[in-house]
Amino acid sequence: MDEDSRITAVAEVPTDSTFLFRVRNRETDEEKEAIVVRVTEDGDDGDDPGELACWLNYCQHFTHIKLDKGSGAPMRDGEVICANHGAYFEKDTGVCTYGPCEGAYLQAVEIEVADDAVYLTDDDYAFVGVGPGEQDDLDLSSKSNYEF
Ligand code: FES
Repeated sequence: MDEDSRITAVAEVPTDSTFLFRVRNRETDEEKEAIVVRVTEDGDDGDDPGELACWLNYCQHFTHIKLDKGSGAPMRDGEVICANHGAYFEKDTGVCTYGPCEGAYLQAVEIEVADDAVYLTDDDYAFVGVGPGEQDDLDLSSKSNYEF
């Protein structure tokens, strides 16, 4: 695997939240955020890293709203929750099962696990770094969601 595409160690992906990182769209050069989620636990013998999934970090109701706002997205019963209006997304399929965008899908990002690490393998994106982008979601929402 290409070290430039290494996102993180599998062990760094939380069991009840999300791991946030940044990608750059190779065609548009636009930077985006993405999240890695655990679909299944890792095995007891240490050989099975468990199954992971990866999605762009944006709700499908208002697509500028981030699921993980920098400290992990809330999750319940295997679903990622959008804190803004309570939409639920299945962590393995990305489909919204409840909320204003029910039936919509999160945008998938291809990853692979090798040697206990998670690698970005999606041809559309280049790995940028871990953590949130520079745009502050709170600033955006305070401008767009509240009017006085
Ligand atoms: S912005 Fe996510 S549910 Fe409305």
